[in-house]
Amino acid sequence: MEKIIVKETKELKGEVDISSAKNSVLPIIAGCILCPEKIVLKNVKMLEDVQVITSLLRELNSEVEYSEITNDLVINSYNINPLEETNELVRKMRASFLIMGPMLARFGRCKISLPGGCNIGSRPIELHLKGFKALGANIKQGHGYIEATAKKLIGNRIYLDFPSVGATENIIMASVLAKGTTIIENAADEPEIWDLINFLNKMGADIYGGGARKIIIKGVQNLHGITHQPIYDRIEAGTFMVAAAITNSMIKINDVNEEHLMPIIEKLKECGVVVTEEENGIIVDGRYDKSTADIKTLPHPGFPTDMQPQMMALLSTIKGTSLITETVFENRFMHVPELLRMGANIKIDGRTAVIEGCTKLTGCDVNSTDLRAGAALILAGLVAEGETRVGEIHHIDRGYKNIEEKFRKLGVNIERVTI
Ligand code: EPZ
Repeated sequence: MEKIIVKETKELKGEVDISSAKNSVLPIIAGCILCPEKIVLKNVKMLEDVQVITSLLRELNSEVEYSEITNDLVINSYNINPLEETNELVRKMRASFLIMGPMLARFGRCKISLPGGCNIGSRPIELHLKGFKALGANIKQGHGYIEATAKKLIGNRIYLDFPSVGATENIIMASVLAKGTTIIENAADEPEIWDLINFLNKMGADIYGGGARKIIIKGVQNLHGITHQPIYDRIEAGTFMVAAAITNSMIKINDVNEEHLMPIIEKLKECGVVVTEEENGIIVDGRYDKSTADIKTLPHPGFPTDMQPQMMALLSTIKGTSLITETVFENRFMHVPELLRMGANIKIDGRTAVIEGCTKLTGCDVNSTDLRAGAALILAGLVAEGETRVGEIHHIDRGYKNIEEKFRKLGVNIERVTI
């Protein structure tokens, strides 16, 4: 079993490069199913989740090649088969469910195992299905499978009760080749949504914004091959911004823009962190006195739920009382018991955590319960007395490529060991 061992760090120094966004790359790879020509995706890191979805496309007879040297991922779905007898790979990763929309659009049918829940929530899919049905698909469920069929998808107006990222992405991809126009109301507005839209429009789709949380998709006949570089990972960037804040350090984060990071920058500024924009990135200066802050996670442009555990680690070290309310997922406080083991003082009251910041955490054995919780435990380990040994790090590898190498380059005494 692998663990990440991180020792108390006095200060971070230097700069860090950010990979392409996992939550952009995954829907974009699913979107390649729509196109019968070669697509080149640049600067893609072969994360665990990317490995799963590309393996699924290979199993469906897509041509998929990846270069560890150039980080180019080349996909040609000219010969792809419809997804009819799903497999363990879909169950392994929820995001595989994003295959349903493009499969329905390309073949008029798709049979896939129902995605499971995960540690942070039940992760329902009724909004995805509401969209497919509105476009004219017939949905059957049973024996752990879900099957969608449609002679022809017809554009329609779809209102999302919640601006679900995945449902917005699945419905956009299902609408791209439909007859007529689809309007999604109360759509998700995350940067990754607009990266997917830009990618699809480059292929020949016709998608544009229609005002607040409204996305309009005009169906087209054909799509063509392209080259696309997904946006950088704002959550990875945010994770390193918190690393600078929690260790009272100043670091540079390369090739990121402030726009996507605005909610994270604003909250860190409240805590006393100074963020300045440079030509090719941002300088994060966490060397000043820190203040408490209250956080409520919300769909973009609200504070991102994927940064909630990392901020909890930081607020656990800032003297005074901070509140974190998690409104997006119903069970995203699994990192709290692990932080308590390190000496944090946190009480949970329903969807709100009350954090009494303490001066010193202490290192010990902890376990990652989900991707971002694992990152939060590493951040806490940077300032905990002694050594922190993080287990269950397969969660972390799903969204961060070689996270320990990036921290090591910043001066952290951190290593991955097999026990
Ligand atoms: C995406 O998940 C991200 N994953 C998540 O990142 C992220 O936390 C989440 O969006 C919110 O920003 C990928 O993009 C691969 P949702 P997704 O549908 O699409 C409810 C990470 O750490 N909901 O916006 O599954 C749902 O229960 C991961 O990188 C319904 O009720 O998120 C949840 O409470 C974790 N019905 C809320 O919406 C539905 O049909 C947000 O879910 C769909 C969702």
